[in-house]
Amino acid sequence: MEFDALLAPIHSFLQCETPDAWIEKAQQPENLRMLLIDHMICELKAAQTAMWLIRKYAVDKESGDALLAWLKPYEDFIYRKQGDFDSLSSLKLGLSKQIKARQNSPYGQDLIDKMVLLIKEELHHFYQVLEIMTNRDIEYDNISAGRYAKGLIRHVKTHEPETLIDKLICGAYIEARSCERFAKLAPHLDAELEKFYISLLRSEARHYQDYLTLAEQIAGKDITERVQFFGQQEAALIQSPDEDFKFHSGCPR
Ligand SMILES: [Fe+2]
Ligand SMILES: [Fe+2]
Repeated sequence: MEFDALLAPIHSFLQCETPDAWIEKAQQPENLRMLLIDHMICELKAAQTAMWLIRKYAVDKESGDALLAWLKPYEDFIYRKQGDFDSLSSLKLGLSKQIKARQNSPYGQDLIDKMVLLIKEELHHFYQVLEIMTNRDIEYDNISAGRYAKGLIRHVKTHEPETLIDKLICGAYIEARSCERFAKLAPHLDAELEKFYISLLRSEARHYQDYLTLAEQIAGKDITERVQFFGQQEAALIQSPDEDFKFHSGCPR
């Protein structure tokens, strides 16, 4: 009940609901490992995307280097299997310095502040998934990426400022879909995972809103049509048949 107000804008933003067939698949015990591993990788990818955006568009060189150093141990874990939950958490990784806008950046501190907070939260979620996996003896293994993010990004325009605006709209859809899926799947999982997924709703709903607001601000004009366009692409990826089960996969057969 408490979450109805939080989820209402998400449901009206998304052009379809997660199919029941996906929920059925995702609650099968044999798919839990894939669900958690893919979820953990999604958290890192969310952090990387936000880092990439502000490194490309907004921050000075020193800040860019600090951002790279911040994410490196997580990337080492995912791509090079270096470290584990204990080593990652004992590093107490934070951000080593204040992230500042470069002098000629037209996008300013608002983009930076929203993205730095987002990275912080995604890395915290990453820890939380890894902790749950570690407690359940689910070993991490690198897996192939699903079709979802690629299927959205391929429509991003190749000239500025449309590239940035399109990427922000894609970010809004990915966050909104994650939020919708967490909420719909939570009651079908065990108590610990249900509680965890519910705990993610608030930040993911804010991430969606932040991306959308930034897209509107940077465009400086009405972007409804572009948002609708990506909404259609997104809904098609969610509703069409998909053999490969992942956190953002389409409809299982
Ligand atoms: Fe997250
Ligand atoms: Fe997020």
